[in-house]
Amino acid sequence: MTGKAINIADLRLAAKRRLPKILFDWIDGGAGDELGLRENETAFARYRFLPRYLLDVSNRSQKKELMGRSYDSPFGIAPTGYAGLFRPGADLILADAARRANVPFVMSGTSIASIEEAMAVAPDHCWYQLYGAVDYAITKDLILRAQKAGCRTLVVTIDIPLAGRRERDMRNGFGIPLRFTPGLLLDGLMHPAWAVQYLLNGGMPTMANWAPYAPAGSNAMAVAGFAIQHSYCVQTWDHLRQFRDLWDGKLVVKGVMHPDDATKAVEFGADGLIVSNHGGRQYDRAVTAPIMLPVLRKALGTAVPLMLDGGIRRGSDILTALCLGADFTFCGRATLYGAAAYGAEGADLALGILRDDLDQLMGQIGCLDLDPAGLPAFLVEA
Ligand SMILES: Cc1cc2nc3c(=O)[nH]c(=O)nc-3n(C[C@H](O)[C@H](O)[C@H](O)COP(=O)(O)O)c2cc1C
Repeated sequence: MTGKAINIADLRLAAKRRLPKILFDWIDGGAGDELGLRENETAFARYRFLPRYLLDVSNRSQKKELMGRSYDSPFGIAPTGYAGLFRPGADLILADAARRANVPFVMSGTSIASIEEAMAVAPDHCWYQLYGAVDYAITKDLILRAQKAGCRTLVVTIDIPLAGRRERDMRNGFGIPLRFTPGLLLDGLMHPAWAVQYLLNGGMPTMANWAPYAPAGSNAMAVAGFAIQHSYCVQTWDHLRQFRDLWDGKLVVKGVMHPDDATKAVEFGADGLIVSNHGGRQYDRAVTAPIMLPVLRKALGTAVPLMLDGGIRRGSDILTALCLGADFTFCGRATLYGAAAYGAEGADLALGILRDDLDQLMGQIGCLDLDPAGLPAFLVEA
C-alpha cells in the first residue's frame, strides 16, 4: 500500500505524514542553514543531457561492475543510523530490498539490527560501515564480527570529527536514546501509526551490534546511551591503518573530499572511496560531491573506484554523477523515506523509482549502457 507515490519527493511526504516531526526532521534535516543540504540536491541540476537519436534503444543495461561484483543498477543504499526507530526492522527491510534489487546495502555503524542479522538477510549485498569505538577492543571486535559473519566490504566513515550541529534537532530536542518527553508524546499522538507500532514493539529498540559491549544488564536505553558515548570519537590515519591491518576484505573510505586525503587513503590501502559530505548533515557550506569528484578522479586516475553520495533523488542525478566520473552512487534519505513510510514495499518502491527513472532517461538520450568511456559525451553544463 504505497499510496500514489511516483517519485522520491512523494515518499518524503509520506514519511513526513507518518513520522513524528522530531524523527522526520532528524532524517530530513541538515546542519546550520541547510545550505549544504540544498546544494547537494541542486548540484546535479547544473547539468543537462545531450541526446543521440536514430538509435535502436530497445535494449538498455544499467548493470555495473564494482570491486569485483556485478550489480543490477549503479546505485546502492548508504548507511543511515537508527533506521529501526522509524520503522521496526528497517535495517533488515533495507538489506532485503537491496538483495532483491541486486544492489549493495551499507549497514550503519549505529544500526538497530546486528551485522549478523543483516548478513543472514543479504549475504552477498551487505557491507558494514564502521564507527570506531573509544575502546579499541570494541572496534576490533566489531570488525572481526563483520568478517566472521561473511561481510566482504568494510566502510570507514571519516567525515564526523565532531557531531553535526543540526538546528532542527536542537530545536526539537532530538536525542539518542529517544526518550518519551511530553513533546514526543504529543508528536506521537498526532502520528498514531508510528506511535502504536513503536510502542507495540517495546519502545526504544536495542542496538544489537552494541549490546554485547554495554555493561551487563543494560536495557535498550542504556545500550543506546553507551553506543552514543563510545561510537563518536577522534579518529586519525593511524586508526585507518589499524582497520586496514585487521580487515581482510575490501576497504572503502567514506566522506573523502580533498584530493590529498583521497590519495593518502589509497596509500593506506583503501580499495574504493565514497565522495560524500554526509548528506549535508555535518557542517553547512560543505562542498558537494559533484564538484569534487572530477578533481579526485584526476588525482587518482581510473584504477580506484570512486563512489558518490548526497542529494540523489532521481535517475538523472545518478547519470550525472556517472558522467562526471563516478563508478557508483549511493542514496541515504531516498530509501529511508521509502522504508519509513511504507516498510518493505516503500524500500522496493524507492529503488524501483530510481531504477526506472534512470532507465527511461538512458532511453531518451540514446545511452545504451554505463560504459564509462562513453558517458561524459552525454553531459553538458547548463
Ligand atoms: C538519517 C541519516 C542517518 C545517517 N547515518 C549515517 C551513518 O550512520 N553512517 C554514515 O556513514 N553515514 C550516515 N548518514 C549519511 C549517509 O550515509 C549519506 O552519506 C547521505 O545520506 C547521502 O545523502 P542523501 O541522504 O541526500 O542521499 C546518514 C544520513 C541520514 C539522512
